[in-house]
Amino acid sequence: MKKIPYGRQYIDHIDIEAVVSVLKSDYLTQGPIVKEFENKFAEYIGAKYAVAVNNATAGLHLSVLALDIAKGDRVITTPITFVASANCIRYAGGHVWFADINPDTYLLDLNSVKELIESKPKGFFKGIIPVSFAGLPINMEEFRKLADDNDLWIIEDSCHAPGGYFIDSKGVKNFCGNAFYSDIGIFSFHPVKHIVTGEGGMITTNSKELYDKLMLLREHGITKENMTENHGGWYYEMVELGFNYRLTDFQSALGITQLTKNQKGVEQRNKIASTYKSAFQGKIKFQSLPNGMYNAHHLFIIEVENRKELYDYLHSNGILAQIHYIPIHLMPYYKNLGNKIGDMPNAEKYYDKCISLPIFPTLTTEELDYIIFTINNFKF
Ligand SMILES: Cc1ncc(COP(=O)(O)O)c(C=O)c1O
Repeated sequence: MKKIPYGRQYIDHIDIEAVVSVLKSDYLTQGPIVKEFENKFAEYIGAKYAVAVNNATAGLHLSVLALDIAKGDRVITTPITFVASANCIRYAGGHVWFADINPDTYLLDLNSVKELIESKPKGFFKGIIPVSFAGLPINMEEFRKLADDNDLWIIEDSCHAPGGYFIDSKGVKNFCGNAFYSDIGIFSFHPVKHIVTGEGGMITTNSKELYDKLMLLREHGITKENMTENHGGWYYEMVELGFNYRLTDFQSALGITQLTKNQKGVEQRNKIASTYKSAFQGKIKFQSLPNGMYNAHHLFIIEVENRKELYDYLHSNGILAQIHYIPIHLMPYYKNLGNKIGDMPNAEKYYDKCISLPIFPTLTTEELDYIIFTINNFKF
């Protein structure tokens, strides 16, 4: 059997035709398809505004800047995420403070964040970046209350979770990254993610003020509005130190066709997760699913004592399981900033045992049966 990766993109002829049609058009970048993708994405997620960017890391960078992070500002995030969720704080000269995860959901733990905030004087922290890790939604309503009580902003890293949702206390379905309870949502379109544009990302918000700032920062800080002078039709002014973090039109065309497939893809991911769960129930620990949550299942993670042996055994059998993630506070860069082993006991215990099994919409029944069969033959 061919090797089975933990995640794989799904590109069909509709995707290819959409990209080719833009390649034959007048605009490869800065054309109308970017706006169309932004509008369709915002509508799907349920946010007012969306800003397409060249990757989610750039989106996180712009977001902390739009939220006026300044040198020395302190922001809280989870140690169990991809490094970009934390690095964006450093790009802006801020300090990363980690709070521990919940040992069952693997998400940034509300109580750990609360304890950390309460251990410091009011005004000590500036914001929180929770992550809907593996596709399991963060309960943003709870985080919003804590943030409001402490005057903090929230960036919701939803890179793993387009299509995931939680039901709030009013019974309303909130899609991850809809930015209803947060200030900003972030998505990634890297090939292992749900919606794929090669490299690519999206920022969502309901604030016109943040939207305007994000658009300006994405395009070098250049504007044609409210200018101090006007020399003619060509004239523009640069009013902020911005960047070129644009997504191209041909990537946006791919984003649009991929977006139309997301709902089906998420359902398929959930079917695969159910099959894993019924095979492992009572035998192997997996990520819990709190009431009112719909997991978008970017990942399916199990915890085992002899993780290294299982990893090697699966790889030798063509199953390319992965580890998500090595705790960020233990990366040499973050250790050099004062973090150390023992700081985040739940995250560290989780890391010793976690392993992500293949999950993606085109995983076949035959492949899934083979993975389960192979794991069942492993001596735990
Ligand atoms: C949770 C999380 N945040 C941010 C990123 C960064 O995304 P990108 O690769 O699009 O910059 C990733 C990518 O793996 C991620 O998983």
